[in-house]
Order: sequence, then C-alpha cells, then structure tokens
Amino acid sequence: MKALIIGTGEYVTGLVHGSKSTSDKGVGIVALTLFDLRQRGLLDEILIAGANGLKFPLIRQHFDQLITQKYGLDSSFRSFPNNDSHDPEAWRKALTELSPGDSVIIFTPDDLHFEMAHESASRGLHVLVAKPIVKTLEEHDRLIKVAQDKQVTIATEVHKRWDPMYADARQRLREMGDASYFASYMSQPKSQLESFRAWAGTASDISYYLNTHHLDFHCWALEGRARPVRVTASASNGVAQSINLDTEDSITLMVDWINDSGTKATGIYTSAWIAPKAEVHSQQRFFALHHQGELRIDQAHRGYQLSTESDGPQSPNPLFFRYTPDSQGRFAGQSSYGYQSIADFITGKGEQLATIESTRATTAILEAGRLSLDTGKPIDLNL
Ligand SMILES: NC(=O)c1ccc[n+]([C@@H]2O[C@H](COP(=O)([O-])OP(=O)(O)OC[C@H]3O[C@@H](n4cnc5c(N)ncnc54)[C@H](O)[C@@H]3O)[C@@H](O)[C@H]2O)c1
Repeated sequence: MKALIIGTGEYVTGLVHGSKSTSDKGVGIVALTLFDLRQRGLLDEILIAGANGLKFPLIRQHFDQLITQKYGLDSSFRSFPNNDSHDPEAWRKALTELSPGDSVIIFTPDDLHFEMAHESASRGLHVLVAKPIVKTLEEHDRLIKVAQDKQVTIATEVHKRWDPMYADARQRLREMGDASYFASYMSQPKSQLESFRAWAGTASDISYYLNTHHLDFHCWALEGRARPVRVTASASNGVAQSINLDTEDSITLMVDWINDSGTKATGIYTSAWIAPKAEVHSQQRFFALHHQGELRIDQAHRGYQLSTESDGPQSPNPLFFRYTPDSQGRFAGQSSYGYQSIADFITGKGEQLATIESTRATTAILEAGRLSLDTGKPIDLNL
C-alpha cells in the first residue's frame, strides 16, 4: 500500500518556514510515524507533496539527521513537485500515482482541506485530514456523500482520542448520567502566531485550530446521548493585531446542550495563541461535571518534570510522542497517542477513528462559533 502526505509544515516535518520548529515536535509527527510503519512492513511507499519544491532538499537533510542517523530508520520518500518549482497543484499529480485503497494524509491550512479530501476520496482513496476536517457543515456533508459513494474512509486526525486518560474519561463520563457542565482550555505560545502567519486570521482562526480538540472529545463523549442546540462566541484581541495579524487572541465558545432526557447542559471551550513561554508548549485541560460525577484532566502535566541547562524547566509528555530512542537506539514511539492515531488509520483499525459520518456536530459548532463572532449573535443549531 502507498501513502501520500500533503503538506510539509510543522506537524509533518517539524520544519516551519524552513527552520526547525521551537515547539514540542522537533522532527514532526506524521512523516516519522509513516517511516516507522514502512519499516514494520505496514506500508510500501511514501510520497510527500508540498507547494514549494525548493523545500525538499532541506527536508531530506533534516530527516536524515534526526531520523535516519538517530534511529537508523529509512527516511526516503518521493516528492511532488520533484524539482525546484513552486507548484500548489503538485498534490494533484501525486494523487495520480496512487491506486484505489491507498491512503492520503492531509496536513495543509484549514481552507484547503475540503478540496484535497474530496478529490482524494473521489479517486477511491482513504483520507485522514488534520483537524478541523472542514470549516462548514455544507462541506462536511459533501464529504459524507463522497465517502459513501466511493466506499472509502474519511476521518479527522484527533489524537486525544488515543490518550489513555482521555479514552478512559470518555467511557467514565458515559456512565455518569446526564451531562451538566464542561469547560476546556487549550493554548499555544505567542511564537506560533509567527509560525502560522501565512494563514492565521485569513484561512482559519484559533477556535478552528485548537477548540476542535476538546470539542471533538466532548462530542465523542456525548455521542448518542445529547445534542448541541445553540452557540454563542466571545473573543479577545490586541496581541495578534500588534504584530499586524488581523485575528483574535483567544476565542471562547459557549454551547447549550440538550441531553436526551430533556435536561440542559453547558459546554465552554476556550483556546488562545498568545500564551507566554512556559514549562509546556501547549496548556491543555478540561473539567466535566455530570449528574452522577465529575472529572478533570490536565493533559499538559503528567507528573513528570525535568530541567536542563539548555532548555530550563519542562513538563514533557512522552505519552503524546516519544522521541527518546530505546536502549538499542531504535525509535520507540509506537505506543504514543500521536503515533497510534495515524497508525490505526493506515492499518484500518481503531474504534476511536473520528469518521466523517460521526463528526458533524463538531463542524457545526465550529462554524456557528465563527458566525456568532462575525454577527455578534447566538446561533441556533438544528442537528
Ligand atoms: N502544528 C500542529 O501541532 C498541528 C497539530 C495537529 C494538526 N495540525 C493541523 O495541520 C494543518 C497544517 O498545520 P501545520 O502546523 O503543519 O501548518 P504549517 O503552516 O506549518 O504547514 C502548512 C503546510 O501546508 C503546505 N501547503 C500549503 N498549500 C499547499 C498546497 N497547495 N499543496 C501542498 N501543500 C500546501 C505549506 O507548504 C505548509 O508546508 C492545519 O490544519 C492544522 O490545524 C497542526
């Protein structure tokens, strides 16, 4: 089986604008995971498509240093465009190299997801798309249709579902009676505003970018038990504008939910990309109250602290992605949830897969949140 990755940014390669990322993903997640899956015999060939062919020599050098020399893993791939041209349509050429049943993994700015996913599925290919899968319910429903017509899987990459604590919490919440209150917070440091300057505020916003994670978790926890009926959004600004980015600093979505029993619940989802440099790259936590219990998770702090001369105090989370090799120097990240969410898509396993059919509510809430900000009014949902 072949797999094509579209996009050569931070999550795929660890490179941002041609420099090593300062985030917690030094050599990225997606390409490294696929190289390991190929080594394990679960994939035959890897293709990577970007918009700028000039980046590939640097990407190969970066992979050679941080993957092949470090773990002894083959990091070769076929690139599109395969010369030094700038070609934003190169992904279409790459698609022609695949056969029905092969896989496409899309990690490009949010406004490109729909077209790339639709074209891939139309060719009989299985598709995994970075969150948020698409930006509107209309696009979401068109993807459901093409997935059904072509009998392929379209899913969104929401790795929190593979975190052992989030997966456990989901099942426990479903045993705790009606939902009552949920509050999540997730942030990225200010430096990411520069990393994402190409699309921040134009192709997407911080709610689409980060609220998706906990929204997906909450919709998954309440699947078949409750439905969202109204979205009211609020935002803060000032920091992004001060560096000439016309986008919000933080966005909060307040969602009214109705449990199947008829009782009401509230969900509040906040995300920000102006956090200061701290002991973690990204703060991420939630609290949930149900009629028969409550729980909270601080996903950023796993009871593991270290400090080094070069980086100062840190709170690492190798449950997300383990870069430290095993005692023989081999890659040892196979049990990380960032790895498993991609591996389960490639192998066709995983009951947690966030399929296009099961994720309508998340897209509806994100779209309504944007509309609420733009109109200054609450938006009713009819799901
Ligand atoms: N960075 C993260 O931690 C992270 C985590 C999970 C999901 N994501 C999601 O991944 C997606 C991309 O994020 P990123 O952080 O990698 O962003 P990024 O800005 O670092 O990279 C985006 C990439 O898309 C490429 N691209 C743009 N137009 C293209 C085209 N026409 N053809 C092929 N490639 C094209 C760009 O060249 C760039 O390499 C977003 O949807 C984001 O929400 C990011």
